Amino acid sequence: MDFSLFNAQTVAPSTDKALQIFPQLRQYSEALGNTPLIEVPGPRNGARILAKLESRNPSGSIKDRVAFGLFCDAVNNHDFDSAPLRLLDSSGGNMARALAHLGHLCNIPVHVVIPDSASDELLQSLSSSKAIVTKVDRKHFLLGIIARSQQIAREEPGWTLLSQHLNLVNTAVHQYHTGAEICRQLDGSHADAWISAVGTGGTLAGVYAALSQQNPQLHVVGCTPSEMPFGTMEPPNDLSRFAGAGGFGFGFKQPFVSLIPSSVTFQSVSNDKSLKAMYRFFEETGIPIGGSAAANWVVAYNVAAKFGKDATVVTVFADAGSNTDRERGRQLLNSERKVNGSISNANS
Ligand SMILES: Cc1ncc(COP(=O)(O)O)c(C=O)c1O
Repeated sequence: MDFSLFNAQTVAPSTDKALQIFPQLRQYSEALGNTPLIEVPGPRNGARILAKLESRNPSGSIKDRVAFGLFCDAVNNHDFDSAPLRLLDSSGGNMARALAHLGHLCNIPVHVVIPDSASDELLQSLSSSKAIVTKVDRKHFLLGIIARSQQIAREEPGWTLLSQHLNLVNTAVHQYHTGAEICRQLDGSHADAWISAVGTGGTLAGVYAALSQQNPQLHVVGCTPSEMPFGTMEPPNDLSRFAGAGGFGFGFKQPFVSLIPSSVTFQSVSNDKSLKAMYRFFEETGIPIGGSAAANWVVAYNVAAKFGKDATVVTVFADAGSNTDRERGRQLLNSERKVNGSISNANS
């Protein structure tokens, strides 16, 4: 398996050629990004916590940004006179949905390699977008889907492998869009800490590059599931965990994380804890957030408690999650409340 980073960028890919060939993308691109940065509940006397609400993107997650960036870059580099463009990538879920949606809009074939644990809802969405789906045993997790996508690209060269884990368009999109938006939204102040769940590490590294321009002392914390922590020496497993993030296993580390020049600390959050936090956040704010968002909130809460009131902790809520997971969180929280009485913060 190839783990080399490639395709360095100094700006996010130009959208001009894609919008010219596929004018139907105009509406999509206008709806993309510029998501709200909202203040969310935090610890008393601790730092304020701001979260970027990425469920507001066209197909419902932060991966719309990366899918569109990779799509535009592939279009910019493709010679349409010699062959049709056909796009391939591996994904835990949200990237597959976002890419399939784009392919469907533009009538470009999309092939996604996903774990066989994918939800019925995701499979339904991929099927209605007419994506080709290859499933890999969930126990091989990220290494399994990356290896399989690279194998398909070698055996069937007609597919352009986007390689979201290695293609530096991913970090560029987060540096020059997601991160730049946050810098503007901070409106003269700066972030003291930045927290993000790590799937490819693109969000963590790209947004770090933007925020650290305003504060070189920026504290950076990655968040991964307790069942599959970042950098774990254990083999991949099929334990339930919050979606969108996780270590590779066998000691492999997401290459994007190595782009961060300062030291990154990691905190892990269990599946049950993220489910409970998903529901608790919804109960407190009325805003639906997903498992990785809830895990980020839990970690942000911990970090904010260590900073003073004047500090700002920034995190990202990658998607809105499912009602099924929120309901599971409600049940877990209610049984815990019966035993312990009322619960008072994100970390309960
Ligand atoms: C729900 C969710 N959270 C977090 C992430 C992690 O983002 P990144 O790949 O930038 O590390 C993803 C990526 O797909 C995701 O789907």
